[in-house]
Amino acid sequence: MNVKEEIFTKADFGSDFHWGVVTAAFQVEGAVSEDGKGMSIWDTFSHKKGKIKNGHHADVACDFYQRYESDLELVSQLGFSDFRFSISWSRILPAGTGEINTAGIDFYNRLIDKCISVNITPWITLYHWDLPQALQDKGGWKNREILEWFSEYVLLCTERFGDRVKHWIVLNEPLAVAALGYTTGLHAPGLRGLWNFLPVVHHLVLCQAEGARVIRQNVQDAYVGTAFSCSFIEPFSQDTKDIRAAKRADAVMNRLFIEPALGLGYPTDAFPYLNNIKKYMRPGDEDKMKFDFDFIGLQNYFSITVKHSYLIPVLWLNQIPAKLRNVPVTFMGWEINGDGMYKIIKQFSEYQGIKEMVISESGAAFEDILADEAVQDEKRKAYFQEYLAHVLKAKQDGINIKGYLAWSLIDNFEWAEGYAARFGLVHVDFETQKRTVKDSGKWFADFLKN
Ligand code: NOJ
Repeated sequence: MNVKEEIFTKADFGSDFHWGVVTAAFQVEGAVSEDGKGMSIWDTFSHKKGKIKNGHHADVACDFYQRYESDLELVSQLGFSDFRFSISWSRILPAGTGEINTAGIDFYNRLIDKCISVNITPWITLYHWDLPQALQDKGGWKNREILEWFSEYVLLCTERFGDRVKHWIVLNEPLAVAALGYTTGLHAPGLRGLWNFLPVVHHLVLCQAEGARVIRQNVQDAYVGTAFSCSFIEPFSQDTKDIRAAKRADAVMNRLFIEPALGLGYPTDAFPYLNNIKKYMRPGDEDKMKFDFDFIGLQNYFSITVKHSYLIPVLWLNQIPAKLRNVPVTFMGWEINGDGMYKIIKQFSEYQGIKEMVISESGAAFEDILADEAVQDEKRKAYFQEYLAHVLKAKQDGINIKGYLAWSLIDNFEWAEGYAARFGLVHVDFETQKRTVKDSGKWFADFLKN
């Protein structure tokens, strides 16, 4: 598809399509210990030497805790109808369970009320990676008790916010939690070791379904989903070994969390190593892993090419970096490939059990230059146009895609990358906290108006 020739409008996506922007608590809020907030694993991790590029941390981040009102007004000015944010678990339950921090609850109530007052539909993400440190001290996602901790937390959120919030995402990109947080150690809590991977995956899968059940039970008319990172995977060649390596990577990157929810179990066919997860399973777990989600959130940033390697015989790491393949990349070195978005949507649409899909994140980091109170980010604009064109193509094939939520409203704390990687439609000067709408944001506003 030549997207340059492709002309599409908002109307092509249908009048009931959700157009939104996304943030996550730890990446924007700051206010690290304000008003009784407890510490999270990301607070701890980001203060350890050498974990975050340039020694950045998120104690202040975008100061969203103080500035949410004007930021929400920006969402509305840009013409978006939806805003997805996450709850900081340790802001409302400082120790993870037990005592409730009313000031934390009040903050999210004010935020939700602000959304509603500017006509924006709020979407809550329950877990966007900032586990309370107190729970990590008891083993975090390695400890099966997290099922009870998480249920208590979700129950509280549904009781306090469920009267006004109907759109819920249980987990954000659980693979990143297991792989980066507990296996490579690049993310909080920074644990390393392949042996952590499977118990963490299994507990995430159980919580994904259990959290969804709590929402369904407690929130009238809830629209319940969960969000996966996903990438279309190509084998480097048609050599059987490369094909097998690509299938293995696909099992981990695209199938690991959706298939148990759909009642298909873990994708051991493509990756027999996953049979070891049985060690962590108890009688009845097969059923507990299932949930009939109203929608599945897909977050696709790049496509991947995988080659067999004798050196890295397991997992998904034997990919050929985009830079070596001479394809266009973003600031993160991620391949820009709208067709990959189309193909991964197609792949997910083949599951019988998925009713609806939402592109729950999509966006790109580029080197932005602020000059004369403007950021001319042509590349980001082109990125959105290309990815949107391919989402539309999938929709026109008859796939039930209900929304597109752009990552992100504002530049923010990009985890181990710190503030260098800017993903916002709105530029943030982290010295002054000044917001400047980038050209991509202006393009979006025009697009949404017409
Ligand atoms: C996915 C994550 O959910 C989000 O937190 C992150 O900033 C973006 N991808 C960009 O890497």
